Amino acid sequence: MRSVSIFAGSVYGNAQHVAEEVQTMLEAEGASCEVFTDPSVDDFKEAESVLVITSTTGQGDIPPNLEFFHSELRDTFPLMDGKPFAVVALGDSSYGDSYCGGGRQFFELLNELQGKSVSELFEVDAMETLAPEEEVVPWVKTQLSELTE
Ligand SMILES: Cc1cc2nc3c(=O)[nH]c(=O)nc-3n(C[C@H](O)[C@H](O)[C@H](O)COP(=O)(O)O)c2cc1C
Repeated sequence: MRSVSIFAGSVYGNAQHVAEEVQTMLEAEGASCEVFTDPSVDDFKEAESVLVITSTTGQGDIPPNLEFFHSELRDTFPLMDGKPFAVVALGDSSYGDSYCGGGRQFFELLNELQGKSVSELFEVDAMETLAPEEEVVPWVKTQLSELTE
């Protein structure tokens, strides 16, 4: 069973809280899991399975704690060679075109790095729910076998 590396991008703590709730669920399911909030490219290369859980800030921007990580990945371009990944995007549809832009940027990059996407981008709209973990935890559970096999 592959272990899951969760890369959490958060400004006010929502996405980080969701990442921690997902970690609790994964461990209860018997999967090993680590949450990174200040990751390096080496953390990414060592990951067996990648789960990005990120909010969006500014106008479609990646939160500052993952900004450098994202640009380092762009610059060094460590190919994933079919490694499974999923991306969860927390956003707010009142931002219009920049809705979930942070998650979308990661989803595009991981596809370019030739990871194996286990699903389409999973978007959670703050206009619709105040408890994103209630949507994200069950969703990740449905992706568990794809992420870890
Ligand atoms: C200053 C600011 C800018 C934001 N910009 C966007 C945006 O461009 N697109 C979007 O979908 N959501 C945007 N959001 C909404 C956040 O992504 C959303 O509230 C999310 O749940 C915050 O999670 P966090 O606490 O992990 O940062 C913005 C929120 C704030 C406060």
